[in-house]
Amino acid sequence: MAYSNKILFQCISLALVVLFGILSLEANGRILEDSIMHERHEKWMVQHGKYYKDSNEKELRFKIFKENVERIEAFNSDGNKSYKLGINQFADLTNDEFKGRNKFKGHMCSTITKTPTFRYENVSAVPPSIDWRQKGAVTPIKDQGQCGCCWAFSAVAATEGITKLTTGKLISLSEQELVDCDTKGVDQGCEGGLMDNAFKFIIQNKGLTTESNYPYTASDGTCNTKAESNHAASIKGFEDVPANSESALLKSVANQPVSVAIDASDFGFQFYSGGVFTGSCGTSLDHGVTAVGYGVSDDGTKYWLVKNSWGETWGEQGYIRMQRDIDAKQGLCGIAMQASYPTA
Ligand SMILES: *[C@@H]1O[C@H](CO)[C@@H](O)[C@H](O)[C@H]1NC(C)=O
Repeated sequence: MAYSNKILFQCISLALVVLFGILSLEANGRILEDSIMHERHEKWMVQHGKYYKDSNEKELRFKIFKENVERIEAFNSDGNKSYKLGINQFADLTNDEFKGRNKFKGHMCSTITKTPTFRYENVSAVPPSIDWRQKGAVTPIKDQGQCGCCWAFSAVAATEGITKLTTGKLISLSEQELVDCDTKGVDQGCEGGLMDNAFKFIIQNKGLTTESNYPYTASDGTCNTKAESNHAASIKGFEDVPANSESALLKSVANQPVSVAIDASDFGFQFYSGGVFTGSCGTSLDHGVTAVGYGVSDDGTKYWLVKNSWGETWGEQGYIRMQRDIDAKQGLCGIAMQASYPTA
């Protein structure tokens, strides 16, 4: 009895030693992991010029950063995904905070009266792919920063496109003019707006000035009427693409860059870094971007080529390829719900 007890005791103590060993290895591992993560956070802060007001804020942001990094890495370790996520400038924001940044006035769509004409309705042949960047009709990627004026960037990119196609000149145009001066209607600068209303403003104002003449400040300002009256480009009108038809959108994008509204609130959208985005997303339109082409990926997935306004550190150097021709008539993330383009 005593003998077997001793064996038992020895077994237990050995087991305890092993257990403690494992536990302390794990604890050590976790401390090491955390310090590596802290280092990554520090590097990321430098890379993106982030500062926090105090150590509490820093600790909170570190926790969010860590969670995001872990979720991104778990997603990327699944080899079956058609797109990748990356640690970008939004890595210290929760998905809710990120959603709060998108300020397209999608909830106002019902009040919009659609334009009756659609000039591309009888287009029968479209090329298998098009990239308006290769035709010199797309300016470099811009960054809206903290200001919720995606609608201005979307409308400006479409206006830059049609201007190039009709005049042969690619001119970077002013979003800030829209933010500061297009304030008498629905559009509210950094608080949100609609692309169609931006087109209306450009028509009524008889043009839009250049980016360099009226530079972007990422904040609401007083309208500089002198710069406002110095027109570099103009449009005659705008048309809405018939809603919920990717084929109507295709006919349009085959002919010019087109403003589109999307639901960009998903985690996958926040951290998209490349590939064809097929990700889960809804149709609560909260972001304005510009479709500047379409094509088919190497693995045969059809996509829309979309210019975003979140700088080049997001997506494929600022662009996203979004899956095209899906079953839902609204298109992925609602891309076919509320598209429009300026006419010249
Ligand atoms: C498309 O074709 C129909 C039938 O010929 C015609 O009535 C309509 O005006 C055309 N639409 C445009 C935008 O040219």
